[in-house]
Amino acid sequence: MTHSVHRRAVAVTALALAGLLAAVVPTAAATDTAAAPGAAPSPAALAAPDIPLANVRAHLTDLQSIATANGGNRAHGRAGYKASVDHVKAKLDAAGFTTTVQQFTSSGATGYNLIADWPGGDANRILMAGAHLDSVSSGPGINDNGSGSAGVLETALAVSRAQLQPDKHLRFAWWGAEELGLVGSRYYVNNLAATDRSKITGYLNFDMIGSPNPGYFVYDDDPAIEKTFKDYFAGLGVPTEIETEGDGRSDHASFKNVGIPVGGLFTGASRTKSTAQAQKWGGTAGQAFDRCYHSSCDTTSNISDTALDRNSDAIAHAVWTLSAGTTVPPDGDVYENAADVSVPDNGAAVTSSVTVSGRTGNAPSALQVGVDIKHTWRGDLVIDLVAPDGTAYRLKNSSGSDSADNVITTYTVNASSEAANGTWRLRVQDVAAQDTGYIDSWKLTF
Ligand code: TRP
Ligand code: ZN
Ligand code: CA
Repeated sequence: MTHSVHRRAVAVTALALAGLLAAVVPTAAATDTAAAPGAAPSPAALAAPDIPLANVRAHLTDLQSIATANGGNRAHGRAGYKASVDHVKAKLDAAGFTTTVQQFTSSGATGYNLIADWPGGDANRILMAGAHLDSVSSGPGINDNGSGSAGVLETALAVSRAQLQPDKHLRFAWWGAEELGLVGSRYYVNNLAATDRSKITGYLNFDMIGSPNPGYFVYDDDPAIEKTFKDYFAGLGVPTEIETEGDGRSDHASFKNVGIPVGGLFTGASRTKSTAQAQKWGGTAGQAFDRCYHSSCDTTSNISDTALDRNSDAIAHAVWTLSAGTTVPPDGDVYENAADVSVPDNGAAVTSSVTVSGRTGNAPSALQVGVDIKHTWRGDLVIDLVAPDGTAYRLKNSSGSDSADNVITTYTVNASSEAANGTWRLRVQDVAAQDTGYIDSWKLTF
């Protein structure tokens, strides 16, 4: 089949773009001048600070005290959870964050998400970092997940101490009712308008980052986020592995499910550390990463300070690195393929391609992938964007319960590690019998 590729960079768009570029260039030139030898670099280019372990530990002590004063836990629907929210909120308010408490109901009890926005940055490009703040009812939840909550809190406080002026807007979140099945984070994502979802360029999740017999696991999701974490640990000389102890078992899944790029860190739960893992990381082979997972012994004694320290520093590194970036014009060039491609029922994957040329550098961190697929049961479809070098970005998984028709939406892909020029493909596969459809059109907006 011949694919007709339309590059919709018509004269009006090009002129509008030129106008925007003209407006942007002086700012960029000023930034370059500021970064010249001998001059101070722009704030966003500064390296992340070392996160003081003592401060992170102090947050854990506070959370332990809250649990102890409230029947030994900080679980959804219990007094210890709301006390945890109030405690973290007060620290953020004092540091200059704009905080919001979002209420929801789960299992007959009121739940709370705490959201903290750092004023400034590009409102159209938002980097989020979060952790669940609730424990199970059987214990104080200091590793699960006081550790992630404290690491994210101390990173937010470091943003305030540095009075960071990132290019992107920064938003931190502490989720409620994760232990009941990612309830709070799903509520947050479901209540975001589609336009607001598309502004989130990435969500970083931290759930259990101080396991007492730690591993160093990086989520295998968005490639640019994953690389940011891996590079950080490589710089420390600490080997990492891909997180495999239950993909989708924490709040990043709520974001990933709607196409937001995600990543995160994890030091292991009830799974056993192998001999090879003990050789590279130390600790005890044949023992769980966290023997107190979901137990009453998940106290301040149930923490590896080394793991907590390294991971807290890694959070700050990622927040500093991923919130920097040059401003892009809001309306880019559109590359579209409107030729129909039928998708065989329960059959092989098909592709539709667009060729991008004449650009410089890499693709954007918020590449817009507009997809228009007509289908009688969209749950059958697995959809990927395939970059010119063959790297696939999963846009949508198949799902037995996704019973609507058609996929007509825009996905945001962090394609900043891909060269812009070359042939990009939309790859679609129907993996279940009966319902069928076709790619009507799709487009990339650079
Ligand atoms: N809170 C998670 C849970 O109870 C802990 C967890 C288990 C986890 N496996 C994970 C977190 C993998 C991140 C990644 O399920
Ligand atoms: Zn957890
Ligand atoms: Ca089918």
